[in-house]
Parts: sequence; structure tokens; C-alpha cells
Amino acid sequence: MSAKTLKTNKASLEGEIKVPGDKSISHRAVMFGSIAEGITHVENFLPGEDCLSTISCFRKLGVVISQNGSEVTVFGKGIDGLVRPEETLYVGNSGTTIRLMMGILSGLPFETRLEGDESIARRPMTRVTIPLSEMGARIAGRNNGEFTPLTVNGGDLSGITYHLPVASAQVKSAILLAGLQASGETVIIEPVKTRDHTERMIKQFGGEVERKDDTVKITGGQALKGTSINIPGDISSAAFFLVAGAVVPGSDIVLKNVGLNPTRTGILDVLEAMGADILISPYDNDAAEPAGDIRVKYSKLNATTIEGELIPRLIDEIPVIALLATQAEGRTVIKDAAELKVKETNRIDTVVNELSKLGVNIEATDDGMIINGMQSLDGGTVSAHGDHRIGMMLSIAALLCENEVILEQSEAVAVSYPAFYDDLYQLMKK
Ligand code: S3P
Repeated sequence: MSAKTLKTNKASLEGEIKVPGDKSISHRAVMFGSIAEGITHVENFLPGEDCLSTISCFRKLGVVISQNGSEVTVFGKGIDGLVRPEETLYVGNSGTTIRLMMGILSGLPFETRLEGDESIARRPMTRVTIPLSEMGARIAGRNNGEFTPLTVNGGDLSGITYHLPVASAQVKSAILLAGLQASGETVIIEPVKTRDHTERMIKQFGGEVERKDDTVKITGGQALKGTSINIPGDISSAAFFLVAGAVVPGSDIVLKNVGLNPTRTGILDVLEAMGADILISPYDNDAAEPAGDIRVKYSKLNATTIEGELIPRLIDEIPVIALLATQAEGRTVIKDAAELKVKETNRIDTVVNELSKLGVNIEATDDGMIINGMQSLDGGTVSAHGDHRIGMMLSIAALLCENEVILEQSEAVAVSYPAFYDDLYQLMKK
């Protein structure tokens, strides 16, 4: 475990960076490449620990995958080309890997054991195992299938109609991946629209999936064909610098090639509502996943309320939005976000506890937090608690601190953004 000393930096951020490839899309590119027939070339893949876990799991299922930095080639042999793994599939810290893979494994005629790190061992799995069992898979795990290690015995699946009890793209995607292998039609009704990368990717691989309002439908038995995927930058990684640019006095930065899928851009809506000085320049092309450049400059900010349908569109950005709110005028309220409790850490508690250690006036609620604005931050020793997004948020917080910050477990950032500190120091350099 490595602690990092973050010196106070009263200097502005300037210049331009290209944030790494999108994590959600990188996972899906490897997964769909692995179940499709033929070769899939992936450009701008995120070589973070989570996505490398996905590659390692599919290699154990017999798929040949070459990876060189952000270039990946997957040699797919169709879903029936996957073979029984000789060892447990280890997913590391990655909830997306384990939940989406269960959808794939549910339709395959063999037994697989899945396990991850101590954070994964605390994350709820019945949200996925219940619908997959209803479709015909046999899944067992600790505490009646709630926790890892999990064992999946796949087989013949039948389509279901399922009302998602929580707004979750991971659950929706797991059911879609099982639905691709099931007899008949699978229908999913979402309580609130979640990220739609899976639906877009099914179409990129030549499959069909239909959305109407809150309902997504897929028919089983479709064969997918390998393709070329160019992954846009991750708006959830860009978020740390969007906030840094908005709150560090004098800053003016440009983030290149940021994914602008509307199911992910809630943070841009929040920045605009708070009065931030941002300029979004979308690329004029017909890419499956829209992208563009974003320029952000320091400006005065006002508090806002973040709730309802906005929550799934910025769920991973809430830790850094809490920091943003400390610099706005007024009181920011975040609600309807109880899902934060079951992320890599309980992100309501970790955000509130760690920011409090830096002297921030912030309060946890049952489904979110209340943040008082116009605060000055002190400094001290804080911890990422093994949670990449907490580590990066605290590193940005250090830019605002009067005194030095020591960040424990800073290595966690490599889960989604291995070059985070390189990019940060580049923007700090004059
Ligand atoms: C993800 C969906 C979200 C998100 C996670 C990635 C995905 O999780 O928090 O980081 O790639 O589908 P939930 O589906 O649990 O909301």
C-alpha cells in the first residue's frame, strides 16, 4: 500500500490532456468481441486494472486476446467457442466484470466459479442472480447467492419480462447478455434510464435490440460478428479535471475526446446548473458513441440540488461533485442516491468521512449528502480506502487545501486511471 504526499498547490491548472478510454465501454468491447464470431479490433481501450481483469477472465474461458497498451485484438469464436475454465475466474475490484460475465455464463453448459477482492466480496449480487435464475441458470453463493464466491451452472435459458428493482446498467446488461442466448424474447423495464453502452454495442456487433421509453427488448439466438471499436475517453475520468478546472482559481484546461453519451453526461448538466464556465465541442461524426472536447475555466459557482433521473447519469461522479459543491455558494443537496452505499466502498460514508478530515462541513443522509459551500479546506491524512474514485477526488481536493495532504492507498487510482497523476502533474506544470 502506498501513501502519497500531495503538496498544496495554489497554482492554476492549464493545458490540454486526453483522458483514457471509457471503462464501461472497454469491458463491453472485450466481452462482445469474445462472444462474437471473428476478429474485433479495439482502439483506445482502457488498460486499467478492472478492464485487464475482464481480459484475464475471457482468456481463461479460452478466448485468444492480444493487448498492447490501449490496442486490443479479440479473436472471437462465437459464444459456443467459450470453454470451461480450469480455475476460478478472478475479477479483482470489478463489479462490471463479475455482473456482466454472469449473464454470459448463465447460458453456457458448464460450471464456473467467480471471485474478486475484499470490496467485491461485500457487493450485492442477488440483483443479478435473481433474474438470471429466473431465466434458468443455477447460481450459488455465500448468504443465499448474495455474495462471492459465486458458482454459475449455465444451461438452457428462457426469455423473461423483468422490472428492474434498482436502476442499474450492470443488471440490465447481464440480463441482455443472457437474453441473447435465451429462447424467445427478453423484456427489461427500467425504473430510470441507465447507461446504454450495451445496447449500442449489440448493434455495433450486428445484433438487434429495441428500446421504447423505459423498455428494452432482445430476441435470443442472435449471432454477433466481430467489428472495430474506437472507444471515446471516459467522462467519469474527465470528471476529476472538469471539477479541478472549475474550482482552482485561474484554471483554463481542455479535455480531448471525452465520451458524450447522454446517459453519462449528468456532470455536465450539474456544472452548467452551477454556473461553471464550460464549452462543449461535440465531434461531428456518426460514431456509435458520441464524443467531443470540453474546455473548462475557473468561475464562481452556485449550489444546486441533484436528484431523481439525474442520479444514474452521474452516479460515479458523485464523490467529486461533493468536492465541487464545497466551493459553490449555498448548500448543495444530493438525494435519491442510496446506490452509492453499494459501490466499491460505501461512497456516502467514505466521501463524508474523508472530506470531513480535510475540514469540510458535509453531512451524510440516508440517500445522499448535504454539502455546505464556500469552504476552505485544511489538509491532513486521508485514505482512498481502496476506492479509485475516492483516491482521485481526494487528490483534487488537495489542490484546494491550505496544508499538505497525505493520501493513503493512492495506488487504487490504477483501477480506472493508471496515468491519473501524470495527467494531473502535466496540467499543474507551467
Ligand atoms: C456500470 C454501471 C454502474 C456504474 C459502474 C459501471 C457499467 O453501476 O456505477 O461504475 O459499466 O454498467 P450500476 O449498474 O451498479 O449502477
